[in-house]
Amino acid sequence: MEISAQEPLPAVHYDVIGSAYPATRRTEPRIAARIWAALGDARTVLNVGAGTGSYEPPDRDVTAVEPSAVMRAQRPAAAAPCVAAAAEHLPFADRSFDAAMAVSTVHHWPDPVAGLRELRRVARRVVVFTYDADEPGWLDRFWLTRDYLPEFAGLLTGRPALADLAHAAGGRTEPVPIPWDCADGFFEAHWRRPEAYLHPHVRRAVSVWTRVGPAAEQRAVQALRMRGPCAPRPAETRDQARPGRAAIKSSARAVPMLVVIISSLRRVATIYA
Ligand SMILES: C[S@@+](CC[C@H](N)C(=O)[O-])C[C@H]1O[C@@H](n2cnc3c(N)ncnc32)[C@H](O)[C@@H]1O
Repeated sequence: MEISAQEPLPAVHYDVIGSAYPATRRTEPRIAARIWAALGDARTVLNVGAGTGSYEPPDRDVTAVEPSAVMRAQRPAAAAPCVAAAAEHLPFADRSFDAAMAVSTVHHWPDPVAGLRELRRVARRVVVFTYDADEPGWLDRFWLTRDYLPEFAGLLTGRPALADLAHAAGGRTEPVPIPWDCADGFFEAHWRRPEAYLHPHVRRAVSVWTRVGPAAEQRAVQALRMRGPCAPRPAETRDQARPGRAAIKSSARAVPMLVVIISSLRRVATIYA
């Protein structure tokens, strides 16, 4: 079921790239368990930037918000009702929901701080799953962005720090390790399966590859391909007598990927009064 909001919707990148999303993007059960635990005892849940509905808890009363018509059209028929709106202008009264969640979406919002304030306005609890791009060394710890796709750093320019996001949500952060066999094909998901990045359908389901542009993408993929199936770090390639399984193990040690959950429980009802 789709519901329209009154606010005009911003142009959304996912109307251009969204049809490739379902090929590799799905619920990762271990991450879902963390998100659902963070929702606590919430009975009514607003899922903002809901996409195709991954991570919507099956045992709660969910309302989805999604600005992209392409993404809304790909939601399963039995999925929660979906409102065509954006995070920065949620068409709901204050404290309409027990909890609001936002998964792998905040970095797409034109104004993440305003959006998180909106989540906090309409819900008692806020749960956000995102990445910590301002952690010192984050770019360097992922071999893909460090050695093959330095252009990723440009995508982070002007984005708010994690501390600012947490402040806007009124919450605290906790790390979430990305399993080496992560079922949801987001950008970092294949950190220990480098060969996955050679597949166009894996890249097309991740906005980063479109945002860096075709020249950077092709150069990165070509360099990965040249390094063989495991694409270890250049330094590790030199250290390994036999690239292959050993190189994968080395990458695994070198790239402890983490993303974060920001969660809050608003106890003081007058913060934004
Ligand atoms: C990477 S997808 C994540 C979808 C879903 N949450 C998931 O985990 O599969 C990002 C989603 O954020 C949506 N989005 C982009 N700008 C938004 C905004 N301002 N407010 C709410 N959602 C937005 C996109 O249309 C897209 O569906």
